[in-house]
Amino acid sequence: MSKVPCIAIVGATGAVGREILTVLSQRDFPLGNLRLLASHRSMGTVISWRGTTYTVEKLGEESFDGVDIVFFSAGASISQRYAPIAVSRGCLVVDNSSAFRMNIDTPLVVPEVNPHALVDHSRLIAVPNCSTILLCVAIWPLHQRAKIKRILVSTYQAASGAGAIAMAELAQQARDWVAEEPITKQFFGRQYIFNVFCHESKMDQSSGYNNEELKMAEETRKIFGNECLEIAATCVRVPVLRAHSQAVYLTFENPISVEESRSILKRAPGVEVLDDREKNQHPEPILASHEDPVLVGRIRQDLSRSDGKGLALFLAGDQLRKGAALNAVQIAEAVLKG
Ligand code: A2P
Repeated sequence: MSKVPCIAIVGATGAVGREILTVLSQRDFPLGNLRLLASHRSMGTVISWRGTTYTVEKLGEESFDGVDIVFFSAGASISQRYAPIAVSRGCLVVDNSSAFRMNIDTPLVVPEVNPHALVDHSRLIAVPNCSTILLCVAIWPLHQRAKIKRILVSTYQAASGAGAIAMAELAQQARDWVAEEPITKQFFGRQYIFNVFCHESKMDQSSGYNNEELKMAEETRKIFGNECLEIAATCVRVPVLRAHSQAVYLTFENPISVEESRSILKRAPGVEVLDDREKNQHPEPILASHEDPVLVGRIRQDLSRSDGKGLALFLAGDQLRKGAALNAVQIAEAVLKG
């Protein structure tokens, strides 16, 4: 790969694509040329980045010529079709979709957790699901110390996880509410503002788990390198624009105290502890929005256990940033660094 790589972003007009542009700029990512790709709908849209204007091109099979690194963030079907083409043209693909995550020979990487998985990548690397990333960043350092056996997690997921259209609809519903107009229900098909509902991903009819819940379980097992990790999730949407939150209960093989957990997390990469019981200062999606670290707080013993092997915590992390764009850019940086 040339010293200053040429970059393409597939889905550059979307919520994650735009965040990738922000992160590349803020991290001063070395970059030769930039190609912004989207569907025919956005062809010709002009995006200004680092003082230069770029015109969005329609994604096609020839889009990858002369490109070194491609970030895909246009959904699984687009990745399924175009990522192999990009790889065959010699590009490194960092894929934000679910298309290849569980392929045995595709690394699924959270750089703070399993950077070693980048050693053998065949030019295609998958970015985990946003909720999985936020969870893994927060709990991996505790796992290093006391070995996690079981994870029970409930998510409080923002609109951003469903893309720019979902964020726009939540904002529109707020305006509809204030104007006392009928609520716009085009994207989710239901009232989102002032409501909480089961994550909209496809539900497995026999188990009753939605796909987001199943992804969190299987991806966390893959990232932890432990097929036996016990994990179950409940994923819901809450009317928040960006940044997901999670309530997490962990069971360890060895006892671990609240004080030690707090001190481990204070030193952990990608984590910021916000755990002030007196002032009731704890992770909130508003505080996590547009920020890199996963905020972790409400660190407590699990009162349902008396053996010191259970811990409860609450986290919030920017879904578009560490949950997608930042994680993808960190992967590219790690590969460039070798
Ligand atoms: P477009 O703006 O042309 O629709 P989000 O996750 O925020 O909904 O964004 C999805 C991104 O994926 C957008 O940039 C969108 O581009 C892009 N996209 C959707 N369908 C296609 C397609 N068929 N080819 C290329 N890009 C696509």
